[in-house]
Amino acid sequence: MPQDTLTIIDNRTGKKYEIPISEGAMRATDLRQIKTSPDDFGLLSYDPSFNNTASCRSAITYIDGDKGILRYRGYPIEQLAEQSTFLEVAYLIVKGELPAKSHLKAFVSNITHHTIIHENIKKFIDGFHYDAHPMGILVSTVGALSTFYPDAKKIFDAESRKVQTHRLIAKMPTLAAFAYRHSIGMPYAYPDNDLSYTGNFLNMMFKKTELKYKPNPVLERALDVLFILHADHEQNCSTNAMRVVGSSQADPFSAVAAASAALYGPLHGGANEAVVRMLNEIGTVAAIPAYIERVKAGEVRLMGFGHRIYKNYDPRAKIIKRLADEVFAVTGKSELIDIAVELERIALQDDYFISHKLYPNVDFYSGIIYQAMDFPLDMYPVLFAIGRTPGWIAQWQEMLLDKEQRIARPRQLYIGAECRDYVPVAQRAEDAEGGAAANH
Ligand code: CMC
Repeated sequence: MPQDTLTIIDNRTGKKYEIPISEGAMRATDLRQIKTSPDDFGLLSYDPSFNNTASCRSAITYIDGDKGILRYRGYPIEQLAEQSTFLEVAYLIVKGELPAKSHLKAFVSNITHHTIIHENIKKFIDGFHYDAHPMGILVSTVGALSTFYPDAKKIFDAESRKVQTHRLIAKMPTLAAFAYRHSIGMPYAYPDNDLSYTGNFLNMMFKKTELKYKPNPVLERALDVLFILHADHEQNCSTNAMRVVGSSQADPFSAVAAASAALYGPLHGGANEAVVRMLNEIGTVAAIPAYIERVKAGEVRLMGFGHRIYKNYDPRAKIIKRLADEVFAVTGKSELIDIAVELERIALQDDYFISHKLYPNVDFYSGIIYQAMDFPLDMYPVLFAIGRTPGWIAQWQEMLLDKEQRIARPRQLYIGAECRDYVPVAQRAEDAEGGAAANH
């Protein structure tokens, strides 16, 4: 009769242990009973970069990386991208269910009426250099919002969490657009409550002297779909940062600043920017084979390819590839798309990519669309951050309400020096290791 347990024999002691298995996992703390002596701390599991460690139980996003499946709260990403809107998806992700009509209306109205930011925030955006990366500005300003909303510290108060949720989803586009306007020396464009969430964001980004900005409906919808595709992705690097910082009971604005900082890196949300830089560097279809050789030689990575979880085509990349055609019908075809499509074609036939299970991810085509829509390169990770905000909030809230979660605090395997006596500086040899290290 099969049992949901794991039998471990410790060959150091010959002792046998029965460890329960639940939901396909064993608890790492069950290893602690495995000791060589009473004063032994107990066995640890060692998992740098969390390759095989579940840090939480979550009901938000389901991914099957081998089959290329992504669902938010059970709904397939393809259906949401086709039929839903970003704010409806935000509601779904944060609250767990699709809203009734009246609830959706109230939610949209709440978000719409929180888009304005305090005038003082403009002043410190003004303090950034003209060429400051907008992601750097976003990280700082969203963190600074916590000083404007001290009530955000009441993280165990459901009503406070609700208000901060509205504020965060509503204000991220405003901060993002203001960061961009600052970088090009344009006056800030204020939110227009008559427009949709995404239409208003385009207004704040691109409005010039016209009295009323009218977003192109195809581009507005395309960006809304891109936000939907980015809305959550279970325990990725930035979401983990959100949960870790949130676990110290910091306010959600500070935690979103941390999550945004994690997203900034080129291996995560910065990858869309890196893809377009890479395609520009490749320059022509003829130059692709040589670039592929450099990737295979380990000189460079093929940005927008590969994923820790997906070992199949990222379902988001498929949707984005289709979306690109709709966008190009309005903006004209991007010169980079031919290079991207050919790069994908060659890579998918190549042994290196096949054997490493490297497929295009969400970032491979999104940057090309952003570029066609006139977003400058360094805004791409910022767009990712706007889309990911509902996911961060939902994951943070789930963590706070999960009785099993405590402050995130991993263990380590100490590999440093044994205990040794302090040597006064005058008695230390000049060529001692410490001296050399200190010079670097
Ligand atoms: N180009 C070439 N080789 C790659 C790539 C790539 N893009 N990605 C992974 N590999 C190789 C890697 O060299 C390694 O090979 P080997 O086993 O022979 O040493 C193997 O595949 C496994 O790579 P890894 O770095 O251990 O895999 P990981 O799970 O730690 O990294 C990743 C995942 C997304 C960071 C990585 O695939 C990568 O750097 N991709 C490019 C950046 C990118 O597109 N990031 C966006 C991810 S999707 C959006 C998001 O969620 O942020």
